[in-house]
Amino acid sequence: MIYPLSISLFLVSGYHALVSASEPVVAAPQTIKLQSRVAPKEATLRRRALNPVTVPLADFFLGTDLQWFGNISIGTPPQELSVVFDTGSTELEIASTMCDSSCDAQAKFNTTKSSTFVDKKTTSSITFSTGVGVDPVVGANYKLTLRAAQDTITVGGLVAKKMPIKLITKQTAKFEINPFSGIQGMGAQAQGFFGSLVDQGLPSLFSLFVTPQAVGGAELTVGGIDKSKFNGSLTYAPLADAGSTTWSLTSPTISVNGKTTSVLKQTRDVIFDSGTSNILFSTDTAEAIYALISPKIKAHAAEPGTYGIACSLIPTLPAVIDIGFTDENGKPFNLSIPSSELSVGPFADSPTTCQTLINAFDGLDLVGGSVLKHYYSVWDVGSQRMGFAAV
Ligand SMILES: *[C@@H]1O[C@H](CO)[C@@H](O)[C@H](O)[C@H]1NC(C)=O
Ligand SMILES: *[C@@H]1O[C@H](CO)[C@@H](O)[C@H](O)[C@H]1NC(C)=O
Ligand SMILES: *[C@@H]1O[C@H](CO)[C@@H](O)[C@H](O)[C@H]1NC(C)=O
Ligand SMILES: *[C@@H]1O[C@H](CO)[C@@H](O)[C@H](O)[C@H]1NC(C)=O
Repeated sequence: MIYPLSISLFLVSGYHALVSASEPVVAAPQTIKLQSRVAPKEATLRRRALNPVTVPLADFFLGTDLQWFGNISIGTPPQELSVVFDTGSTELEIASTMCDSSCDAQAKFNTTKSSTFVDKKTTSSITFSTGVGVDPVVGANYKLTLRAAQDTITVGGLVAKKMPIKLITKQTAKFEINPFSGIQGMGAQAQGFFGSLVDQGLPSLFSLFVTPQAVGGAELTVGGIDKSKFNGSLTYAPLADAGSTTWSLTSPTISVNGKTTSVLKQTRDVIFDSGTSNILFSTDTAEAIYALISPKIKAHAAEPGTYGIACSLIPTLPAVIDIGFTDENGKPFNLSIPSSELSVGPFADSPTTCQTLINAFDGLDLVGGSVLKHYYSVWDVGSQRMGFAAV
């Protein structure tokens, strides 16, 4: 899930203004924290005081793999709740007993049961640009109304105390199908529970193994890399916007079935969002890619931003998309999306037309589950880089 850049900047500056009024100690800019955490790898290893933990993930599957979620615990004694580990956002938002009836379908964090719960009372809201499923977000249909709080968070047995939490007090109807209770932001800075664990000596990285439903065994490893999940080596690339919370890499070129075009050779920064299943590219890029797959892929007017083609044609179409990147040694590498990802299933209003995996969204270039499923991925906060190994 990702929120628009303008709103994200607004939220960040609003957050700082808010905490500096009440809690000057926490108000230190996050970029300074990061700089203090960047240390030579050998030094990091010597100071290591916490061992990595692995959290099993379940796949939210609705005709296509949508999102992967796992359990964290909040409060004292711990209440186990499931969250999407979302690299496209930065905070923990959780359904709570302070929510109105809009959260009734979800397991909720009961604030009165926790002896360490602190109600910070300030309210805010967040509107996401990408949602839970494969449909484009329309207006503010993925909006959460939030109330600030603080409590202990436990992940895989590792404990982070006095963590900021956003309690969901109201959510738009689109969230009701979620089989999970919240969203745990895993942006590219050491924040929240992860920042606390890094301060306690956990290596500053996490890894995702998000698998198709039929494969199973998905997992998040916090503070390490599960080398049993891949053969071969990891290829690392430096973040395009080091020091920011955004996981993005610069891509000089995109190829489709081995071909490219002038539009696809434009350099772009591609955001990696584990909380989004589809791919979002600007309209010209999306249409240039589709033109190389089949002229029969057409915009689907009933849902602006989506494209589709007769489901019967899908098996005949080669649709290998290679997104080119440059590794930390200056060598090119591709992240490759196989043809099997082309269809995300039939449109509700037109069951013989299948929606295709790229939505047009001007101003954003973003990939999610449909790419991450094909790689073991390492999200290296301390070294501001991402690593990939084919699985
Ligand atoms: C989360 O915990 C519940 C029990 O509290 C368990 O049934 C469920 O399988 C767990 N989910 C995952 C993804 O591990
Ligand atoms: C929350 O916990 C309190 C204290 O145990 C209990 O009285 C209340 O019924 C719980 N609320 C919900 C919605 O489960
Ligand atoms: C690694 O390669 C070996 C030998 O080909 C194979 O048995 C094993 O399943 C592979 N492991 C993974 C995680 O792909
Ligand atoms: C990336 O994919 C393109 C298109 O298939 C190919 O021409 C290119 O050689 C690939 N690059 C690498 C480094 O494998």
